Amino acid sequence: MEFKEEKTKGFKDEMNEFSKYLITFEGNDGSGKGTQIEKAFEFIKKTVKELDIDVNNVVKTFEPGGTYISDKIREIILLNTKEYERKYNIENEVMDSRAELLLYLSSRAQHTTNVLIPHLKNKDIVICSRYADSSFAYQGFGREINKIIDVNFLNNFATYGLIPGLTIYLYLEDVYTGIQRKLNQKSELDRLELEDAKFILRVKEGFETLSESYPERIKPVNASKDFKCVQEEIEILLKDYLIRNFKK
Ligand code: TYD
Repeated sequence: MEFKEEKTKGFKDEMNEFSKYLITFEGNDGSGKGTQIEKAFEFIKKTVKELDIDVNNVVKTFEPGGTYISDKIREIILLNTKEYERKYNIENEVMDSRAELLLYLSSRAQHTTNVLIPHLKNKDIVICSRYADSSFAYQGFGREINKIIDVNFLNNFATYGLIPGLTIYLYLEDVYTGIQRKLNQKSELDRLELEDAKFILRVKEGFETLSESYPERIKPVNASKDFKCVQEEIEILLKDYLIRNFKK
């Protein structure tokens, strides 16, 4: 299936120009993404000042969510089944995989239009926690939707073809430690975190497939190492990226 190139060409050229300002973080649940993003955010702000880097601002955002509409969609997607029962008195309503994918894509389309594109056009570096690669890994591989349709075809539609310049992929040698980490952080897991072991492994396989296919963009970092080591490895990648792309 072909994306109608001629109809989106103008947008795509524009998107290519801005894509280098977008840096995403990806990985299975519990890979320590949240805390590493905080460190990366501080590091980028400091490096931009110290090295005379040509960008206006540094901002961070996340998916699913980040706008009013996207936050509403997030509530629907992540609510776990016990909570629907409690809130709406509905038993056994399981979210259809296609509905789930389309909700993530809707949230992404809204967030891309309202948050990402305006910042990128303003030459702000945007750090985004999760983006299109998560749909490819979780819905494409986890839910096996890639067997029916290439999720990246749909991602392309939802994002006007906007691809990040750099993606830090935090991987866990043993993905189950991720769920254990989440349980230590909060008492109740969300719907996606409650998925079974096979699902979690397929998600990891999805991220691995992506990182092997796009080695220039996606940089894997072993998040099973201790926090400081992971942070240092990320900082080396970020510094190199900033110098290569934005040094005046
Ligand atoms: P969140 O609480 O934001 O988790 P995290 O801190 O791990 O990013 O929940 C997002 C959940 O949604 C997470 O389990 C991954 C999943 N997800 C998808 O399944 N598909 C997607 O396209 C995105 C963006 C997230």
